[in-house]
Amino acid sequence: MSPVPSHVTVVSHPLVQHKLTKMRDKTTSTKTFRALMREVATLICYEITRDLPMDPVQIETPVAPTTAYEIAGKKLVFAPILRAGLGMCEGMLDLVPSARVAHIGLYRDHATLEAVEYYFKAPEDIAGRLVIVVDPMLATGHSAIAAISRLKAAGVTNLRFVCLLAAQPGVEALQAAHPDVPIWTAAVDAELNAHGYIVPGLGDAGDRTFGTR
Ligand code: URA
Repeated sequence: MSPVPSHVTVVSHPLVQHKLTKMRDKTTSTKTFRALMREVATLICYEITRDLPMDPVQIETPVAPTTAYEIAGKKLVFAPILRAGLGMCEGMLDLVPSARVAHIGLYRDHATLEAVEYYFKAPEDIAGRLVIVVDPMLATGHSAIAAISRLKAAGVTNLRFVCLLAAQPGVEALQAAHPDVPIWTAAVDAELNAHGYIVPGLGDAGDRTFGTR
């Protein structure tokens, strides 16, 4: 396996790794899988927002006036790729409830594995905001690349990508297509199978989140 490039952040916190292991386990129920997806997303969101710029503000505590800090600039945008991104987005909204949400509908053409857009709805002023693209599985990278290209076409210049699990080929494809977009993930698996599934992976994240198979 080739080395993980430096602008991929693997969130190795024991809580994240423990929860990811439960999610990989095929005996984990839909209910538990969905809850874990939300919890891990919250924890990864904490890491991805670690370096957000802050502004000083003057406030008064019940005891004294003071200078304190709050996150600078416009509200964040989370951009979940439908449908699996929705479960992860919920956990991120638990941590940043005022974030805006841009929905990006992509399906995978099963013959070519290419991403095809069927829905796009984003805040009107998205161009000036930090946008975090959310998809639990970075497999071939086709969906992530298409979503980021779509957001760039809408004028977005400040982008990050977050997933639960990446495959090395997907990481390489995304970085080749969008070298300006840093990636956060809980793990990078070595390979994909012939159907484009991550190995060992955790199966189909959408089906496991929504209980459709
Ligand atoms: N999408 C999934 O849900 N799982 C994979 O392994 C690859 C893509």
